[in-house]
Amino acid sequence: MYLDKKFEKLFLNVSNRAALSSYYFIGKKDKISADKAAVDAMRNELNKIDMNGEIVIGEGELDKAPMLYIGEKVGNKNGPDLDIAVDPLEGTNFVANNLSGALSVIAVSNKSDLFNAPETYMDKLSVNFSEPNVVDLDYSVKKNIFNLSEFKNKRPEDLTACILDRPRHKAIIDELIKLKVQLKLITDGDIAGALMVIDKKYSVDIFLGVGGGPEGVLAATALDAYNCNFQGRFLFNSNKDKERAKKMGIKDFDKKYQLNEIVKGDSIFCATGITSGDIVSGIEVVNDEFVSETLITHKSSGLKKIIKTKQLI
Ligand code: FBP
Repeated sequence: MYLDKKFEKLFLNVSNRAALSSYYFIGKKDKISADKAAVDAMRNELNKIDMNGEIVIGEGELDKAPMLYIGEKVGNKNGPDLDIAVDPLEGTNFVANNLSGALSVIAVSNKSDLFNAPETYMDKLSVNFSEPNVVDLDYSVKKNIFNLSEFKNKRPEDLTACILDRPRHKAIIDELIKLKVQLKLITDGDIAGALMVIDKKYSVDIFLGVGGGPEGVLAATALDAYNCNFQGRFLFNSNKDKERAKKMGIKDFDKKYQLNEIVKGDSIFCATGITSGDIVSGIEVVNDEFVSETLITHKSSGLKKIIKTKQLI
């Protein structure tokens, strides 16, 4: 079952309004208020849409209401059953400190087609082709780079790997340096990091490393529309994490998820820039209008592009 094309515009409007709401908090050193503004705007817009929506990836779990929590029902109940994943403000530090790369992100599928990800870390990997077994979360960094080098017919020194700059990635980064791979180290925002493989213009051959699980599912939705490959494996640090995951239906805690297990069927993805980043520009004020850019994908209609939108001040 395909998602109606009318939803493209409606969800683009949701990420746009959320982005605009956090815009007022750029450089204000207030992550919490910036996030809250984006959450409130998202909920407000989602509730205007003709659908029976359910948040499957949100800002927290039930006890953390009034955020857009997992299980929250959204929409005016007058339409199809949809699963919705949101990251109203991806890159809270970026907005708080006026740094590049903050986004408002939403992904939508038919009921039960989006993975219900727990709020834990995920080991992730993305590349811009769907050929299996070239790269794999179970391979060593060296094997992945050598395979990629052969597959792309590029020397390891001509490959670029994007990874979050974190102490937990020291061994991976050291290995990449040893292999002479060019690094693209990001300080935050690994949805954009994972998406950097979608177009040659970003010059990233592989994204890898550990970041948020929900961010992994969101990125996977857009990567699916681009026929790219993504793998993810949740990392559970405590029994409490495992208990929560069990309640969400996860039985095998070590399972490596392929892209088609994370997102099935049709989907729509929208990521609107708040501050300018590699993929989309941030919000600009031009002649009494807010101009924003959104990367939008719709798998079944083949839509994959950056759309500029104007909103009156
Ligand atoms: P927030 O917007 O919630 O601050 O997340 C930013 C982010 O960089 C994500 O993109 C990434 O998945 C996660 O944080 C990484 O977590 P950590 O900062 O703990 O390494």
